[in-house]
Amino acid sequence: MARRPVEASFEAAPNIALVKYWGVRDEALGLPYNSSLSVTLNRLRTRTTVRFDPKLSSDRFLLDGEAQSGGPLTSVSGFLDTVRAIARFETHALVRSTNNFQTASGLASSASGFAALAGAASLAAGLHLSPADLSRLARLGSGSASRSLFGGFVEWRAGTRSDGRDCFARPLHPPSHWPSLVDLVAIIADAPTKPVRSSVAMQRTVATSPTYAQRQRELPRRLRAMKRAIAVRDAPTLFDLTMEECDSFRNVCETTVPTLDYLVPASRAVLADVRAANEENGTTLAGYTHDAGAHVHVFTLQRHAGTLRRRLARIHGVAKVLALSPGRGARPIRRWRA
Ligand code: PMV
Repeated sequence: MARRPVEASFEAAPNIALVKYWGVRDEALGLPYNSSLSVTLNRLRTRTTVRFDPKLSSDRFLLDGEAQSGGPLTSVSGFLDTVRAIARFETHALVRSTNNFQTASGLASSASGFAALAGAASLAAGLHLSPADLSRLARLGSGSASRSLFGGFVEWRAGTRSDGRDCFARPLHPPSHWPSLVDLVAIIADAPTKPVRSSVAMQRTVATSPTYAQRQRELPRRLRAMKRAIAVRDAPTLFDLTMEECDSFRNVCETTVPTLDYLVPASRAVLADVRAANEENGTTLAGYTHDAGAHVHVFTLQRHAGTLRRRLARIHGVAKVLALSPGRGARPIRRWRA
């Protein structure tokens, strides 16, 4: 690598999984048991600049202006080791990253974070990776990051190979495919931070949940049905399947020993309210989902979004409701300073 510092910046958005990834068959390579499907979101983003600098004696990581140590620095540095191994050099880096949303809040900052880091680090290292290779690289940082490379509706194929060559995400439809789809994100006040990292928690589920095997058997059918519903923009079917999948994910978490309970009473009140709104309407006008966190994503169509948003905002413990839409994928950005 050149003696002078080299720098590149990348921007990426979080995604919300409609079919969840939860459990890996290979921990070192991050190879999941099942394929997953997500929507990349607009408005939220991570921006990351990586500068490889021969003067540095170790990696440094600034997140929202604050120097990181411990776990966050170790995982960023470990990820940079992979990039350095591919590019065949050993220069350390300064990584500066900012989120325009609360980090580690259950809004998937690891997805946008590692997608932006994969893009910025590989560019700064002089690697010009294909979208599939970038997705494979991001996967090593955080599984869901493999999907945030792409905009709109994205499928991450689990693949079957032991070396992970066939395990990467690909875009199914651009954001413009379904512009009237809205994700109302009920931000829960004082949402607790995760007690256990997702990568550890999911393996605990695989090892102990008595319903995990059954969930795995159901998933191919649900994924196929969901892809069909998205392709033809069948909102009620998509929302029903989204809730069915979320309930299945929550069930394997709750039956994990010791149990994994990501929700708080306000989150449960949002789920109940969406069920009630659908009942009152006599049709499925919205579908909820959540990840390993307390916030709840409620998918609906633009024409119902105003009323539903006001309704959700009135729930005790809901701090605010964001209205997001399908957004674009990760991309390089011009030099930028955190
Ligand atoms: O990518 P990770 O390691 O943060 O795990 C994400 C797991 C879920 O968000 C719960 C599901 C998913 O597919 O995004």
